[in-house]
Amino acid sequence: MGVRIIGTGKAVPKKVLTNEMMSEILDTSDEWIYSRTGIKQRYISTGETNTKLCVDAAKDALKDSGLKGEDIDLIVVATITSDKLTPSTACLVQTEIGAKNSMAFDIVAACSGFVYALDIAVKFIKSNEYKNVLIIGGEVLSKILDWSDRKNAVLFGDGAGAAIVTNDESDYITSINCVSVGEKAHTLTCNSLEIKNLYKKHSDDFSNYLSMDGKEIFKFAIDVIEKSIEKILKEENLRFEDIDYIIPHQANSRMIDTIAKRKNYDRNKFYMNIERYGNTSSASIPIALDEMNKKNLLKDGMKIILIGFGGGLTYGSALVNWKK
Ligand code: UT7
Repeated sequence: MGVRIIGTGKAVPKKVLTNEMMSEILDTSDEWIYSRTGIKQRYISTGETNTKLCVDAAKDALKDSGLKGEDIDLIVVATITSDKLTPSTACLVQTEIGAKNSMAFDIVAACSGFVYALDIAVKFIKSNEYKNVLIIGGEVLSKILDWSDRKNAVLFGDGAGAAIVTNDESDYITSINCVSVGEKAHTLTCNSLEIKNLYKKHSDDFSNYLSMDGKEIFKFAIDVIEKSIEKILKEENLRFEDIDYIIPHQANSRMIDTIAKRKNYDRNKFYMNIERYGNTSSASIPIALDEMNKKNLLKDGMKIILIGFGGGLTYGSALVNWKK
C-alpha cells in the first residue's frame, strides 16, 4: 500500500500589501524588509476568513484531482488562526465542499502544519481504512499581528494551500519525519483567550499577538533544514544532485542563501516565492507546491523534498516522488 498526491490548490485574499505601503504605516522600508527577508509584498485579508481561504483552496485541489467532495474520507486542516475555537475549520470546510462521508479535524503545528498533516494523511491511508484525504494549511495571520510592531508585522501574510492525497499500489511519499521540540516553545508564541472569570480579572499585560525570538528561530531553522535534507538523502541513498526541488517553509530567503552556501547546495533547487506571499505559516508549502504544479514545473519522476519548521517548536520533512 502506497500514497500519492493527486491534486493541489491554493487561495489568497484579494488585497496586496507591498513593502512601500508598509513603510507608510510603520518605521520600516522596502530596503530593510527585502534585504533581510526576501519579501516584497504579501496578501492581507480585508474580511476573507480562514474558512473561506481553506474552502477555496480545497475546491481548487478537488478540481485538480478530478475528485468530488463526497469522495473525501478525511479532512485535516493545519492552522494556528482558525476562525473559531469550535467548530474546527475542517468541519466548516467539510460542509462547504459537500464532503459528507469524511471525518474532519484541525491540527496545530504552526509552520510545520502542512507536513504534519501530510504525515497524518499517509498514516491514515496506510491503515487501509481511508482512501482520499484532503489536507489544508490555511492562515489569516494578519489578525494575530500587532500592527505597531515592525519586527513581526512585516514578515507574515494570509493564504491557504491544499492537497489531495490518495492510496496507490506504489509509494510516492517516503522518508516522512515529524519532530516536536517543546523545550523551545517560548521562542515563538501566541496566546489564546485570557483566563477571565468570576475569580480572575483581566490583566493589563495579557496579549494575544504573535511574539517571536527571530534570531533563535533563524538558527533553529538552518539547523533543521540541513538535518532534514541530510536525513532524507541518507535514508533514500541519494545525493543532493538526485533531488530536483526542495520546497522549504517560506520564512526567510537569507536562511536558504546561508544553507546553500554552507553546504555547497545548488541554490536554484530551493523553490522560493516568499517575495510575493511573505510568510504564510502552514500555507506556505502547499501554496508553493500548487504554484509549481500549475506552472508545470513538476514532471513525473521528480524528487521533491518538503521541509516545514516553526512554532512548537516543530519541524517535519518528506520526500515526494512526483507522479500526477
Ligand atoms: O515561520 C516562523 C518562523 N520564523 C522565522 O523563521 C523567522 C526567523 N528569523 C528571521 O527571519 C530574522 O531574525 C528576522 C527577519 C525576523 C529579523 O532579522 P535580523 O537580522 O535578526 O534583525 P534584528 O531583529 O536583529 O534587527 C536588526 C535591526 C534592529 O535595530 P537595531 O537594534 O540594530 O538598531 C531592529 O530594531 O533592525 C531593526 N528592525 C527593523 N528595521 C526596519 C527590526 N524590524 C525592522 C523593520 N524595519 N521591519
